[in-house]
Amino acid sequence: MLRDAAGAVVAFCVCWVIFDELHINTLAVKPADRRVGLATTLLREVMAEAAAAGAKNATLEVRASNTAALGLYTRLGFHVAAKRPRYYTQPEEDALILWREGFDDLSLKAHSACGSLRVCTSSGRTPSTRRRKCRQTSKR
Ligand SMILES: CC(C)(COP(=O)(O)OP(=O)(O)OC[C@H]1O[C@@H](n2cnc3c(N)ncnc32)[C@H](O)[C@@H]1OP(=O)(O)O)[C@@H](O)C(=O)NCCC(=O)NCCS
Repeated sequence: MLRDAAGAVVAFCVCWVIFDELHINTLAVKPADRRVGLATTLLREVMAEAAAAGAKNATLEVRASNTAALGLYTRLGFHVAAKRPRYYTQPEEDALILWREGFDDLSLKAHSACGSLRVCTSSGRTPSTRRRKCRQTSKR
């Protein structure tokens, strides 16, 4: 989760680490705060934490028409690996399955809007091993 200085959530990501795979289930940024690098910052944190937990690859499904998400993930090193025809409903649409192999290179173009935000993560393979941490983000 990313929170602003007042503690309000501006972005969140729900994901699982299953064996050596990071599965990204949901990601969203508050509409008013989009296109300033928040999703990139959050995903980099998520991938770094997943890598520390033993993940070697990352995957997710996205609507084929979601150009914003596809642009984001492509910039973060994901590629389209497969398509699930008519996977989504309301409206019906294909899903693209994206993969990222390895977490060695997480360097990206720098953005400057994230310096005052806090990253709060909650992770662990089971609730009993879950841990929380909050820290200031570094500029990308
Ligand atoms: C997709 C989403 C998470 C992106 O969040 P964001 O904080 O705006 O993304 P960033 O600012 O980190 O963008 C990084 C890159 O992604 C691409 N991108 C992001 N939004 C885009 C848009 N609307 N159109 C085209 N490319 C876009 C660009 O390449 C961008 O880099 P740039 O700004 O230097 O051009 C956000 O639009 C959102 O919450 N959408 C609704 C929920 C959703 O679709 N989630 C993804 C489901 S898998």
